[in-house]
Amino acid sequence: MHEIKQMGSAEEVTRRGFVLSAASTMTMAALGTFPGRASAAPIALAPLPYPDNALQPVISSNTLGFHYGKHHKGYVDNLNKLIAGTHYADMPLAKIVAATAGKPDRLAIFNNAAQTWNHTFYWSSLKAKGGGEPPAALKRRIEESFGSLGACKTELTNAALTQFGSGWAWLVQDGGKLKVVKTGNADTPLASGMKPLLTIDVWEHAYYLDYQNRRADYVNAVLDKLVNWQFAADNLG
Ligand SMILES: [Fe+2]
Repeated sequence: MHEIKQMGSAEEVTRRGFVLSAASTMTMAALGTFPGRASAAPIALAPLPYPDNALQPVISSNTLGFHYGKHHKGYVDNLNKLIAGTHYADMPLAKIVAATAGKPDRLAIFNNAAQTWNHTFYWSSLKAKGGGEPPAALKRRIEESFGSLGACKTELTNAALTQFGSGWAWLVQDGGKLKVVKTGNADTPLASGMKPLLTIDVWEHAYYLDYQNRRADYVNAVLDKLVNWQFAADNLG
C-alpha cells in the first residue's frame, strides 16, 4: 500500500492517457476528451449509473441521495462558479484536475474538480450484486501483483481504514503493476500519473447515516457486495 504524496506533471498525466467510465457499462476515453462538453459549457453532474435505491441494503437510498444530490452536486456547482470566465472553463474535467494539481493558488479549483471526478468514478466502482470474483484477466493481474484476490482486498481494506480523516482508497495501475493507494481529502491518483481502476470513498458522508463511525463495516460490505470488478477490468490498460 502506498500513500500518494507526489503530484505528477500535467504533461505526464496527459501522456499516459487516463481512462474513465461514467457508467457501469464500459465507456473509455483518453484524458482530455472525457467527459465531453461544448467549449465553455458548464461541467455537468454525471448521471448516477443506477437508481438511488439500487445499492440497498449496503448503502441506503438516504445516503446515496445526500451523497449524490448534495455532496457530488455541490462540488460540481462550486467548480462551475470557480472556473467561470477563466481559461479552465474551456477544459474537460480531467484536464482541469491535471492543470491545477500541486498549485497552492489553484487549490479550490483542484479540490472541487478532483472531487467531481472522484465521485463519478466512485459511482461506477459500485453496482448492485457486486463483489464476488473479478473477470479472469483482471483476476490474473491481481494475483500477479498481490499474490491473491484476498490479499488485494486486505490491502484495499487497510488503505480505507488507515486513511486518517477524509479520503479515498484506490486500486490503480502503475506501469505494468497493480497497486493499492490511498489519498487524502480530494487528492486523486489522476494527479500522480497513475491509472485508477476502482475506488472506495471513505469520507464520513459516504457511510455515516448507515454505519455511524463503523467505517470497517462499510468498507467490508462494499468489497463483499458492491464492488464492480467488471468496471476495474474495463479500465485496465
Ligand atoms: Fe463522497
